Amino acid sequence: MINAHGGTLVQRFDPSLSVEAIEKEIELDSFALSDLELIAIGGFSPLTGFLGKADYESVVTSMRLDNGTVWSIPITLPVTEEKATQLAEGERARLTFNGETYGVIEITELYKADKEQEALHVYRTTDEAHPGVKKLYERPDVYVAGPVTLVKRVERERFQSYYLDPVETRRTFEELGWKRIVGFQTRNPVHRAHEYIQKSALEIVDGLFLNPLVGETKSDDIPADVRLESYEVLLEKYYPKDRVFLAVFPAAMRYAGPREAIFHAIVRQNYGCTHFIVGRDHAGVGDYYGTYDAQLIFQDLKEGELEITPLFFEHSFFCQACGNMASTKTCPHPKDQHVILSGTKVRKMLSEGITPPPEFSRAEVVEVLIRGLQKQVHA
Ligand code: ADX
Repeated sequence: MINAHGGTLVQRFDPSLSVEAIEKEIELDSFALSDLELIAIGGFSPLTGFLGKADYESVVTSMRLDNGTVWSIPITLPVTEEKATQLAEGERARLTFNGETYGVIEITELYKADKEQEALHVYRTTDEAHPGVKKLYERPDVYVAGPVTLVKRVERERFQSYYLDPVETRRTFEELGWKRIVGFQTRNPVHRAHEYIQKSALEIVDGLFLNPLVGETKSDDIPADVRLESYEVLLEKYYPKDRVFLAVFPAAMRYAGPREAIFHAIVRQNYGCTHFIVGRDHAGVGDYYGTYDAQLIFQDLKEGELEITPLFFEHSFFCQACGNMASTKTCPHPKDQHVILSGTKVRKMLSEGITPPPEFSRAEVVEVLIRGLQKQVHA
């Protein structure tokens, strides 16, 4: 089994930890709650808490923790200046969400974020129209650092069985006898192009770990519960049951393109994957990143810095002249033969009840999406 990033799979869940005597309290947003959970279950190994200043600055400017370990997205706990005056280094604080205590932080540091540097390096833009940058600027300005312990698991109303910890996915891969496992990140329904690159990858490994991100996403992305239903129908009908395993990635989406591709790969290594798919404009949004920037960034890593192997895929589509799925690497025909629809266009079609062509998306998937989105409108 592949090592966790940094060598040890972090485990920081302790429901027996007594929290009543801890007076100080920090209210988390849903972003921070998902980060707390992922740190505690080892998804973010080797992190044991929210980043201190030296690590933060090093991650922002050089994509590595202060000790040199590759880490591309700052995992931070922002509080307001007013809140920060009530907190002090050396203290413990309860981490709450909707009045419930989910964790405890041992505060080692409080420091001011440098949002502009963070935006420039991590998102490659300070444009507040970028959803990740917008979120960064909306969140408060002081970062609280220190190791955390999760004391209560987050309960989900639906699809609870897909929420598995890295320890559990690793055990599953072992039980299945898979040695080479390719991880697939998505914040979208699985369309034909996704299916094509997943299955192309599956041809050379033992198993596919379909690991959709289900934490906070921008409001026009398709909601996670609708997507999950669509993954179920797709797997049922078009994937070999003994070669695919579905579990969710409960993180918030950053839309940080290249930086997030590295982050996504690291996390999938922690879940036990040996390979990770990076296709066209991975984790991108709008026109902020070049089509293959999220692949090129892996060239900035030195040999051995990352144990997981990225698998790069060209822009894929159905080609009418080929009569099958293809990519810019394998198809000789002109663009007018390619069935390519933008995410925005597809979302618009689905919300209007219009069916995208079967060359773009499986009919069974489309049916679930249209039904799901209409339910949302009427809810
Ligand atoms: S992401 O924000 O989660 O990366 P998305 O769900 O669209 O977005 O993509 C999931 C993965 O599939 C990413 O690795 C992305 O690069 C890849 N991908 C999406 N569409 C295509 C396509 N048409 N051709 C090749 N790769 C693609």
